[in-house]
Amino acid sequence: MKIIIINGPNLNLLGTREPDVYGAITFETFFKELKNKYPSVELYYFQSNIEGEMIDKIQEVGFSFDGIILNAAAYTHTSIGIGDAVKAVTTPVIEVHISNTFSREPFRHQSYISPNAKGIVIGFGLKSYELALQSFL
Ligand code: DQA
Repeated sequence: MKIIIINGPNLNLLGTREPDVYGAITFETFFKELKNKYPSVELYYFQSNIEGEMIDKIQEVGFSFDGIILNAAAYTHTSIGIGDAVKAVTTPVIEVHISNTFSREPFRHQSYISPNAKGIVIGFGLKSYELALQSFL
């Protein structure tokens, strides 16, 4: 099974960015642990701060992979382009957020990903990614 985690802007700073909201572990450390825990899954990771690069990656994997776990970060709330890409591909996409976006500022309550996501996992810290992964298994 081929699954990719795609992370959006500023998520490369996990571990140092607002640790009270996003935790103190880097994504690289978490990803290594996740790969070790699920050795039967072909698990990939891509992060970009650039909207177009995220769209390119969704298009690249979106017709051959078994699942996309997408945390579009701030683009979740602004990007019609990423929302359209999620709609365009055939690979199911699970939208993930580390924090509970609904308990935060109102602008975080809007998502252009959700209408076309297979499911949504929000607010469980980095565990959100693992729960999404489990749902594909
Ligand atoms: C986030 C929530 C977004 O509102 C925010 O812009 C992020 C991270 C989360 O995982 O909690 O960068 O997607």
